[in-house]
Amino acid sequence: MTAETAATASRSRHDLVARVAAALGSVQEARWLVDHVEGVLPLAVPAEGGPPAGASPPATSPGATSLAATQAQRDLLAALVARRQAGEPLQYVLGHWSFRSIELAVDRRVLIPRPETEQVVEQALAELRRVAGERSGRASGAGRGPGADATASPGVDATASPGREVSGRGGPVVVDLGTGSGAIAFSVAVEAGPELPDLMVWATDLSDKALGVARANREALIGSDRPDDGGPAAKAGGAADRAGAGPLPSGALRALRSLRFARGSWFDALPASLRGGIALVVANPPYVSSTDYVCLDPGVRDWEPELALVAGTGTGGVGGTAEIETIVREAPRWLVPGGTLVVEIDPAQADGAIDLARRVGFGAVRTERDLAGRNRMLVAVR
Ligand SMILES: C[S@@+](CC[C@H](N)C(=O)[O-])C[C@H]1O[C@@H](n2cnc3c(N)ncnc32)[C@H](O)[C@@H]1O
Repeated sequence: MTAETAATASRSRHDLVARVAAALGSVQEARWLVDHVEGVLPLAVPAEGGPPAGASPPATSPGATSLAATQAQRDLLAALVARRQAGEPLQYVLGHWSFRSIELAVDRRVLIPRPETEQVVEQALAELRRVAGERSGRASGAGRGPGADATASPGVDATASPGREVSGRGGPVVVDLGTGSGAIAFSVAVEAGPELPDLMVWATDLSDKALGVARANREALIGSDRPDDGGPAAKAGGAADRAGAGPLPSGALRALRSLRFARGSWFDALPASLRGGIALVVANPPYVSSTDYVCLDPGVRDWEPELALVAGTGTGGVGGTAEIETIVREAPRWLVPGGTLVVEIDPAQADGAIDLARRVGFGAVRTERDLAGRNRMLVAVR
């Protein structure tokens, strides 16, 4: 591309962003949408002396937009802008969103991963490192770990690694209950996998549709590390490439490949042999009360799955706590001694969650704050 063509393309991009920003009232969103379109349909470089094949006719500024924006790009951008104007969340319109170090495909089958959940993962990783450190100190050379003889329960995906044991090989077992897009499970696998070679991660959900998205995301994360393989990530225009640059470390890939999916309600999804053998249970369950649900921002209420958001009133009488209570009550019998439960909560649910965790036998119980300083997660050590 000559310097003159590059300058023209840059002006063209500026025009596109300005037009979309005027339509949506947000320059940032306009940039994301134009970036997305350029990622899916790369800029057409004009042949010497003429516009690129398929370029749209000159619009208001002759020569400028026609050089870079092809008709296909304009059509796609117009369709995306229309979806956004209809109220669809930007993340669904883009079809992907970043979470910590990974990029995840998202659509209406799954909750859009939130920044506060990134903090939940931060806590979960800290707890996992502590539990794994304590247990490796105590049990070095102890042989096969809990659940090593597990056989798959009906909801368990036994196809991920045919012929392999269902649970770990003596390493720490982590379970993400209600995985949705896979945000928590994959982040733990990618970030802790390199330092914990025997880490075994499970990802469960009640929703088959959500598990479909999670499975595709796992494949894309693994596929995105195989250059030129034409895998799902490549086909989706990089939709599920990693947000960070560079290939995944081999330990992360190993943890992703060995990760198991299971369908079912909370702990019912897991093989009984994992009971008493899990180092870390992490969950971001639905915790919005039905009263609050009707008042939610329509961009959330009308588009994201109700199953991912709404929960009944718990026995303590606090709205939205029914699923949190189920998880807190059942977790002690699934965790190793010293193992940790990390659950995302609404700040209004913190006192009740702490009380319940103490009553069901957790030893050390605390809440941790998100970046906005709100009590956002229950951390309970068995
Ligand atoms: C708030 S979303 C969290 C999704 C993802 N973990 C995240 O943080 O982005 C809650 C998830 O729990 C799942 N879910 C709801 N009820 C469930 C149940 N009884 N057992 C297992 N999963 C359930 C939903 O399908 C949804 O994927």
